[in-house]
Amino acid sequence: MELVIETKGLTKKFRKFTAVKDLNLKVPRKTIYGFLGPNGAGKSTTIRMLLDLIKPTGGEVYLFGKDISRYRMDILRKVGSLVEAPSYYGNLTAYENLEITRRILKIDKKEIDKALEIVNLSKWKNVKVKSFSLGMKQRLGIAQALIGPRELLILDEPTNGLDPAGVREIRDLIISLPRIMGVTLLISSHILSEIEQMADYVGIIRNGNLLFQGTLDELKARTNTQILIKATPLDKVQEFIRQMGLGVENREGKLYVSKGEIGTEELNRALVLKGFGVSHLSESEKSLEEIFLELTEGKSNA
Ligand SMILES: Nc1ncnc2c1ncn2[C@@H]1O[C@H](COP(=O)(O)OP(=O)(O)O)[C@@H](O)[C@H]1O
Ligand SMILES: [Mg+2]
Repeated sequence: MELVIETKGLTKKFRKFTAVKDLNLKVPRKTIYGFLGPNGAGKSTTIRMLLDLIKPTGGEVYLFGKDISRYRMDILRKVGSLVEAPSYYGNLTAYENLEITRRILKIDKKEIDKALEIVNLSKWKNVKVKSFSLGMKQRLGIAQALIGPRELLILDEPTNGLDPAGVREIRDLIISLPRIMGVTLLISSHILSEIEQMADYVGIIRNGNLLFQGTLDELKARTNTQILIKATPLDKVQEFIRQMGLGVENREGKLYVSKGEIGTEELNRALVLKGFGVSHLSESEKSLEEIFLELTEGKSNA
């Protein structure tokens, strides 16, 4: 598996405080990698080190297999990024702002129009940026990340501060990017549901520690499948299941039995034979949100 981003023991300390600890990120080529964690987890600090905006206290960053600290210019040409609070020239138009980036990268002018088209700002290209909404500014930031010979895009919380419609718009845009451009994409967020809909891979960070890294499916596989039951009379049903020697939990009027202990059909048959009224019986997976919260709200080990 070809890795576009690989960090080895990446660490950042601010005085005595360790913001990022011994991180080994692995981002495979042409995937969307969701970098998840609650506020203050160390996402932006990590991203700044990936982009060589700040220096690590320890460890190394390899982009496209090359050490960023040695091949900075070569590498960063191929990397488009949107970091927190991007700055624009408010008195310049969208086009003029992108023109600045274009000149630095010494690339063709038509790249600007192409990028504006992708982020749906063509109509606004001659409007001064100071009149833009936050969502439009974010889209301009993404356009800026797109122009040039990009092979990797790194977007730090691109939907932060947007309203739900803006979030959806940016998400749809982001999902379309790898298809349009054939790039690898790392996108950070503190909201799992946002990432869940687009990422192939996820890395979950908390207190500077990487708690999980793998495919979304692998993350989902961490769940216990449970059997969800609605039946009456509930307390008697619960007691009966308990007497069968099974673990059973009552949550908001529904019973949950851990699967693996008994087959779904077998349990169904037992309840019906006993004369209980079973109105619902199904296998339910713990939601990804539940797993994420368990991981990120667990005991602190900073
Ligand atoms: N320049 C800095 N000096 C001191 N502490 C910092 C600095 N930058 C970030 N931190 C701290 O490092 C931790 C991680 O921050 P950050 O990487 O911004 O988290 P995230 O992007 O996941 O919300 C936070 O506790 C933050 O206060
Ligand atoms: Mg951040």
